[in-house]
Amino acid sequence: MPNKSHFNKGHIAINIQRKNGVRHSSDIDFNLHKVEKTIHAIFINDAVEVLRQIPDSSIQLVLIDPPYNLDLDYWDTFENYLKWAKTWVDEIYRILSNSGNCIIFGGFQYQDLKKGDLLEILHYTRHSTHLRFVNLIIWYYKNGMSAHRFFANRHEEAIWLSKTEKYYFNLDSVRIPFDDETKILYKKDKRLNPRSIDKGKNPTNVWEFNRLNGNSKERVGHPTQKPVEIIRRFIRGLSYPGSTVLDFFAGSGTTGRVCIEEARNSILVDIDPKLNDYLKLHLSQIEGNFFVKPYTILKNITVGEVFNSFAKLIN
Ligand SMILES: C[S@@+](CC[C@H](N)C(=O)[O-])C[C@H]1O[C@@H](n2cnc3c(N)ncnc32)[C@H](O)[C@@H]1O
Repeated sequence: MPNKSHFNKGHIAINIQRKNGVRHSSDIDFNLHKVEKTIHAIFINDAVEVLRQIPDSSIQLVLIDPPYNLDLDYWDTFENYLKWAKTWVDEIYRILSNSGNCIIFGGFQYQDLKKGDLLEILHYTRHSTHLRFVNLIIWYYKNGMSAHRFFANRHEEAIWLSKTEKYYFNLDSVRIPFDDETKILYKKDKRLNPRSIDKGKNPTNVWEFNRLNGNSKERVGHPTQKPVEIIRRFIRGLSYPGSTVLDFFAGSGTTGRVCIEEARNSILVDIDPKLNDYLKLHLSQIEGNFFVKPYTILKNITVGEVFNSFAKLIN
């Protein structure tokens, strides 16, 4: 059954281009970005303080999992949540590169008016910023709390925003392989392109990943740590090797850890100095990984010095 995108002229044109081997203007040439080494800067500071110093158009991916006024910890309580959220949302468009993307994690299920809510942030970005809404991603999990007065919640959300319509997206890097049986079956279907079957399927915008249990191997102690594989899918698909990813609510540093594994540079900001210890634990989990490129972690430096270091990587 066709949906709206089947009639979208832009989609039709891109599909024809792809079939004919023509690159879309937003495609980035990977050979330009041969990565030998990456840099990761840590700021223990207020997010907005750092954001205001980040140069224009310098970030490929902003990936954030903000506090939502749920009183989960001392950093999670705000008098006027939306007023505070606007102070950092307002910086995002300016710092993104033209192919840049932004992911904001959150939930739609917080019922108390005082709480922050991803819906309110989305509404604000749509009506009061130049950011473009690309996708809503539903993170579905099977493990969660029970409920008696409403349906037990089993999902969180993330919104994907872009600066322009020429946002970067590498679908091939995040495709899910078909199992052998399905592959054989699909290859018998003459309507399907065998090359696409080998590449795997689009993960869609509903992702199933378990939440981290208390005894999960990945746990480093942060109360709201995100699973590595969710962050990896965003970083692989929405940024490219050698580009810069910014997480200004870094928490345990999951984003930094994945950037190290995936050869992206990163800037991590958190108001809580425990980020340093959490990140150490993350890094101990990837120690000895043969595929990880050499990396440097920068601390106690200025934002200007960080960007000078990034520039030296390219020259
Ligand atoms: C939901 S957690 C992020 C968890 C992270 N995604 C992970 O996987 O570990 C939000 C983080 O925002 C930080 N935070 C809260 N207010 C902040 C502020 N004004 N500036 C910078 N960081 C802040 C908190 O210390 C907390 O670690």
